[in-house]
Amino acid sequence: MTATTQPFAINAATGEQIWTRKDTTTVRAMARSGSTSRGVTYWEKGADKRILFTNGAWLYAVEAATGKPVNSFGDQGRTSLKAGLGPTAKDKSVISNTPGTVYNDLIIMPMRLSEGADAALGHIQAFNIQTGKLAWVFHTIPQPGEFGYDTWPKDTYKNTDVGAANNWSGMAVDRQRGIVYVPTGSAAFDFYGGNRLGQNLFANCLLALDAKTGKRLWHFQLVHHDILDRDAPAPPNLVTVTHKGSDGRPRRVDAVAQVSKQGYVFLFDRVTGKPLFPIKETPMPTSDIEGEKAWPTQPIPSKPAPYARNILTAVDISPLAENRAELQATLQKSRYQGAFTPLSKGGTIIYPGLDGGAEYGGAAVDPDGIMYVNSNEMAWLISLNRKMSSDQLAQLSPGQRVYTTTCAQCHGAERKGNPASGFPSLVDINKRRDRAFVNNIITNGKGMMPAFASLSTKQKQSLLAFLFGDERKEPGMNHDPEPA
Ligand code: HEC
Repeated sequence: MTATTQPFAINAATGEQIWTRKDTTTVRAMARSGSTSRGVTYWEKGADKRILFTNGAWLYAVEAATGKPVNSFGDQGRTSLKAGLGPTAKDKSVISNTPGTVYNDLIIMPMRLSEGADAALGHIQAFNIQTGKLAWVFHTIPQPGEFGYDTWPKDTYKNTDVGAANNWSGMAVDRQRGIVYVPTGSAAFDFYGGNRLGQNLFANCLLALDAKTGKRLWHFQLVHHDILDRDAPAPPNLVTVTHKGSDGRPRRVDAVAQVSKQGYVFLFDRVTGKPLFPIKETPMPTSDIEGEKAWPTQPIPSKPAPYARNILTAVDISPLAENRAELQATLQKSRYQGAFTPLSKGGTIIYPGLDGGAEYGGAAVDPDGIMYVNSNEMAWLISLNRKMSSDQLAQLSPGQRVYTTTCAQCHGAERKGNPASGFPSLVDINKRRDRAFVNNIITNGKGMMPAFASLSTKQKQSLLAFLFGDERKEPGMNHDPEPA
């Protein structure tokens, strides 16, 4: 896939291009998606060889040899990733930048969604590769009557202010047993769960599903009621290890190993879901944010040893850091009680950080059972601020109101962003970029920035006016009749 998510085929020996895709529906969808791609999926049955890839909210199938659309797949070669997500997904951002997982004639799809309150539901969907039709759906936020429904407030499944619990990092399939292992991310909004009190199954789980039907065989929740964006960050590894059974005799066990952002490897018997080493529910600090109830315990594996340091102390701050004393003082005055410290108004240290521990590159395992993990150790300092009340929002100009409700969470209330962490400052954006550029980013997203498909043209106009400093300041003078 190219940087603009355009698939192409090259001769692996010579590098010569064989085909590149220039279908107009794809190109339009591409312009819309503004996404990156981590690859394509290959499937074959006899002489029928296909490449599957995504663009925007679409899954496409093309002939592997020619790049021509497979017209019998879905609607002229494409099928909607929103097919099984219910009516609320219609105006929400749904893309997929991780390749799907093939089991026989099915492709099981990861999805990338908003991490805000506007997130679509993160159900797991399988599509038939021959027809493009939706084959099965597993509800990661269960519906009435389904297992796990009572771990959420009763209306959460309606997707009005909570969504996600999606798989974005990819999956692993045991073809012989017909089991697909699906790690899920947190529910959204990522950092406040006062409107989703409860354990929140099947967010932050390792799910073992019957690959044919999507039925749950077993699950393990890696983080209960996640309020720290501790998504399972990588596909699990299917491994075979020598392990002592309850009779003390070593035997070979087919296992599944899941790496995590918090630095632990969770290791289970692939069939039963039983942990190979005890995983202990460990008491964790409480939240001091109004309305929030952090889960009282979190599962901590007794083995293997964590691959990331789980405690940050003043001594760990690099002696080479020019501002070491300042960083030590920040650590000292922030809330920090280990890896599961809830966010606070005054600022909480998150360590390992939001990007791990492990990240989407995942782990590799050699046949002797040694696992290699590329692990980050990056501390974050995050504070949680109350959303403005509707009265306070009404005091703002229309553009500032859109900014505050949609952009400030990443670019900051003052528009200064956090460039060191990859969130650019938008102060003086008018000196660096033109409106068309900014409008395009808002509409299509870019890299880690999601698309804001649901903003109206009017809202975007006032937002641009605000960002480019030509919005009239007095709120009454520039009143936007639309609800923000
Ligand atoms: C979830 C976090 C997030 C939210 C919410 C968000 N952004 Fe961004 N934004 C980013 C990131 C990350 C980048 C850098 C993207 C890249 O270059 O890969 C970015 C880049 C940008 C840029 C490009 C800046 C430059 O110097 O090129 C603009 C403009 C921008 N965002 C505007 C907005 C506006 C306007 C909103 C609200 C509608 C918004 N963003 C909401 C994360 C976010």
